[in-house]
Amino acid sequence: MSPPLPISSFVKSHLSRLNLVYPIIQAPMAGVSTPQLASTISNAGALGSIGLGASTLSQARQMISDTQKLLRKDKSLNVNLFVHQHPNSDSQINTRWIDTLKSHFEKYGGNPPDQLNVIYKSFMDNVEMVDILLELKPPIISFHFGLPSLEVLDKLKENGAILMTTATSLEEGRMIEKTGKVDYIIAQGWEAGGHRGIFNPLGEDQQLSTFVLTSLLLEQLNTPIIAAGGIMTGHHVQSYLDLGAVAVQLGTAFVGCDESSADQGYKDALFSSKSEKTKMTRVISGRPARSLVNKFTQLEDQIEQDGRVDIPDYPITYDAGKALHALAKSKGEYGYGAQWAGQGAPLARKMDAGELLDVLVKEWVGEGR
Ligand SMILES: Cc1cc2nc3c(=O)[nH]c(=O)nc-3n(C[C@H](O)[C@H](O)[C@H](O)COP(=O)(O)O)c2cc1C
Repeated sequence: MSPPLPISSFVKSHLSRLNLVYPIIQAPMAGVSTPQLASTISNAGALGSIGLGASTLSQARQMISDTQKLLRKDKSLNVNLFVHQHPNSDSQINTRWIDTLKSHFEKYGGNPPDQLNVIYKSFMDNVEMVDILLELKPPIISFHFGLPSLEVLDKLKENGAILMTTATSLEEGRMIEKTGKVDYIIAQGWEAGGHRGIFNPLGEDQQLSTFVLTSLLLEQLNTPIIAAGGIMTGHHVQSYLDLGAVAVQLGTAFVGCDESSADQGYKDALFSSKSEKTKMTRVISGRPARSLVNKFTQLEDQIEQDGRVDIPDYPITYDAGKALHALAKSKGEYGYGAQWAGQGAPLARKMDAGELLDVLVKEWVGEGR
């Protein structure tokens, strides 16, 4: 018989509200999480997530319904949206950025794009995406980079959704709680992989660790907290539950799983000594995001040496970043990919998602100690 789960009645009540057995969330990862990954995790009793931040309406509809088809009856699912501010497209800044990248494109036998476009629409002003969510009713919806309007929050809640939003600071946590509509705050620490959920990417950033941020939000707010950033093992899970979090959210730990759509170059880098160096950078997408150190992140060091150039707003920069990655990859160079990873990357394990969840739970309950 398996040992009882080491959870308080407080955590137990949230697990029952979220319809979960385990307080473990596989992070939504736009471009990396898949219906197979999310459904494997949800079917096993934790929370699987899909990231729709980079999806068109038809891709979003397809991804939600593909995942729903793979889910067993009554299993939970988290669907995630990017709620960034409108980018300011400044043609001079865009042109200088294209010039900065020119030699890198030429190295791989290509040319940079003539102009850069806003490649993703923010959920902030995406009425059609709201309608898709209202129609397909994923039970949990989470937001990154900011909050939608109170009207949208109300509509989603009235439709039965449980809402979650990322905070990277106490100030953002207070803004989220003030809406009175968000059920859970995801405390994303500085060590986290992928895009930093910071509301204003050019504003001051206290760079709080997951531990400190989780502690501060728990102390100052009433909304239940989910900890995210650097959590890689079952022992880490236990330490955040001990601190008072109701659950933990892991991204990097799941990137290397068979069910993730990270490309082979990304997975190989994650399982090599390259995992020992990560960098928070804006050069890839225009927003701060933590990536494995690679050819792209090194570009930032070079730009600083050559004299600073303004980086276009998110997601305009990403238009150039994706084009450069596609060109370099076609020539066998994977080092311009958005190889998002957190500081805990060297602890990533090469397993399929079901096996990884099993190991995490065993470590957490004490069998793996
Ligand atoms: C590859 C990757 C993609 C990510 N994409 C998203 C996303 O689409 N939406 C989101 O809310 N968070 C995203 N994140 C951040 C995670 O939600 C989470 O904060 C982070 O993974 C926690 O840190 P860890 O990577 O150390 O576990 C991403 C993280 C990674 C590693």
